[in-house]
Amino acid sequence: MRTETDPLGLQREALRRRARGETIGFVPTMGYLHEGHTSLMTIARERCDWLVASIYVNPLQFGAGEDLDRYPRDLKGDAHKCEKAGVDLIFVPDTLYADDHSTTIAVDKLTTGLCGASRPGHFNGVTTVVARLFGLIQPHVAVFGEKDYQQLAVIRRMVRDLAMPIEVVGGPLVRDDDGMALSSRNAYLSPEARLRGRSLSQAMFTMQRLAQEGETSAKLILDAGQQVLQVDRLDYLQVVDAHTLAPIAVLDRPARAVVAAWMGATRLIDNVDLA
Ligand code: PAJ
Repeated sequence: MRTETDPLGLQREALRRRARGETIGFVPTMGYLHEGHTSLMTIARERCDWLVASIYVNPLQFGAGEDLDRYPRDLKGDAHKCEKAGVDLIFVPDTLYADDHSTTIAVDKLTTGLCGASRPGHFNGVTTVVARLFGLIQPHVAVFGEKDYQQLAVIRRMVRDLAMPIEVVGGPLVRDDDGMALSSRNAYLSPEARLRGRSLSQAMFTMQRLAQEGETSAKLILDAGQQVLQVDRLDYLQVVDAHTLAPIAVLDRPARAVVAAWMGATRLIDNVDLA
């Protein structure tokens, strides 16, 4: 496995490999990797000749007062995990933007609710960095996790709307043994907060079970989930259309339960399919 820090060096190699007919796979990350991330690398590995993973804490997607400055980092550990997962090259740029970087990619509609409502500008930062990474790496296939369900939908929409010739693959949400969604931000939690943080996944499972038992009222499903939560501050708990992410009242189409909540200064998210 090789490490590259130079964006244009990476692009030159990607273009060379494309010209030779190699297929390129890509998994973008912000590092401090866990099995959620490496599961995406395993999925991508089977679909390409050359696999690139990026590790870049993208300042554009952090709001004022968010955790950009204290986002956890462990480049040595990350490199080891990438190598084990079959990554060919890790891209670790110091910065991705020129001083006079001037272009923002903004996806409307899908970004107004849920995390978009409480993190203004966040998804513009995500789509702008992902579009730039796509331009540098020219992947045939890119893998994103369902952990960030709204992000996955937004990336799919961007790729469709801008006719990017990239297959976007969603990877299942990977959980810890206790059900909690794996997240780099779990590292911030005290043991006590971590225990109560489990209530996010427990709420998701409760709502999923009700839906599986045939309940179709979103209100009843939401009430049941709400009762399980033991968080410091709820951001949102919703039942949404799995494609449009708009809230629904009746489960008469593919639906998703989604939650975001604060434990102290740490914001956690989770979601499940309400099949
Ligand atoms: P990051 O939070 O590091 O996540 C990188 C990828 O790993 C995302 O696609 C995310 O959905 C996925 N992921 C994280 N935890 C997961 C879990 N428990 N199970 C499955 N997949 C999981 O998401 C970002 O970084 C950034 O927004 C990025 C796309 C890199 C743009 O900066």
